[in-house]
Amino acid sequence: MKTLDHVNVSGKRVFIRVDFNVPLDKKDGRVADDARIQAILPTLRRVMDSGGKAVLASHLGRPKGKVVPEMSLAPVARHLAGILGKDVPLAPDCIGATVRSMVDALPKGGVILLENLRFHPEEEKNDPDFSKELASLADVYVNDAFAVSHRAHASVHGITRFVPVCAAGYQMAKEVEYFKKSIENPKRPLAVVIGGAKVSTKIGVLENLIPRVDVLIIGGAMANTFLKAQGYRVGRSMVEDDFIPKALELLKLAEDKNVRVLLPVDVVVAPDMASGAQARVVDVAAVPEDAGIFDVGHRTVQAVTEALSGCATIVWNGPLGAFETPPFEKATFALAAFLGSSTALTVIGGGDSASAVKKAGMDHKVSYVSTGGGAFLEMMEGKSLPGIEALEACMGKE
Ligand code: 3PG
Repeated sequence: MKTLDHVNVSGKRVFIRVDFNVPLDKKDGRVADDARIQAILPTLRRVMDSGGKAVLASHLGRPKGKVVPEMSLAPVARHLAGILGKDVPLAPDCIGATVRSMVDALPKGGVILLENLRFHPEEEKNDPDFSKELASLADVYVNDAFAVSHRAHASVHGITRFVPVCAAGYQMAKEVEYFKKSIENPKRPLAVVIGGAKVSTKIGVLENLIPRVDVLIIGGAMANTFLKAQGYRVGRSMVEDDFIPKALELLKLAEDKNVRVLLPVDVVVAPDMASGAQARVVDVAAVPEDAGIFDVGHRTVQAVTEALSGCATIVWNGPLGAFETPPFEKATFALAAFLGSSTALTVIGGGDSASAVKKAGMDHKVSYVSTGGGAFLEMMEGKSLPGIEALEACMGKE
């Protein structure tokens, strides 16, 4: 991928699409997790140090084409200013004459953040005129927003048709590199751990990955559907009954492809998913009628870590239990700890798994934590992302 390394940015207006869709603290409105901001710093610093004029553009939340003051990027501008130790002005909008003159007035090495792109409905509509307006702020376009590259939006897709030079930011390049190393061309054996609440949201992923993996581990509430499909009674657990035939089909596919599948052998059950609930571990064949499954048990964790110990590449998406509600966090944190100490290439993707790895203090110990949620899933589904396609097409035209 052509990165910023191949582009001369000195004195140029470099429009950098970033994903600053970060969580804000409900009480004080400050940035609550700055992983996505930290992730683009190498790109931003390279532009600033090379005498470029950095024009940062992002969405925040889903304001649906209207100005929603709570979704202003002002807290992000303040946070970034704190990191850089210099003022980061927030433009009042992302297009228009005022914004253009602010961008033109930037000194070499200067930085400006545009206001939330999604305050304009045209952003999500991939509107050509809006794309052109954005492009009028750019001598060079850089996409460093992997996490939103599954959206064919104006600042991710349409804009690439109207800018003279395009490049990938370092974060984008890293995401693609780790995807290739882990899924496309992995060192084997390759294990994928898939968890989370619903099997319905992971069918595309499972269908694409089963023919590629050596070991498949299924956890989280989605495992309940597989367990029920295998004839286990799962009490009051969350189950997607409509997907039982699909679950059986996926298990058959795995068998045909000689994939080793691990489902829970013991589970943590409780009357409900309340914090501090009376929980106990039972065999998967002994789930009481009046309880639900909210985590996998320690025998399962042991079987999982044993299976993973023999693997050279491990990809994890989706928690094994309701990890945000103690006492159902144990298996997810045990998995995070195992991955942090593993010598395999360990790649984590998806908002919940990334947050679990961080909470477990393992985010700097695993090989890579993707910034992508939906984008990471779509890559795992084998889809090509519109933002990456457009970027590559733009690079190709030069
Ligand atoms: C994300 O947080 O996954 C990205 O920023 C995309 O956000 P969206 O789902 O609102 O398009």
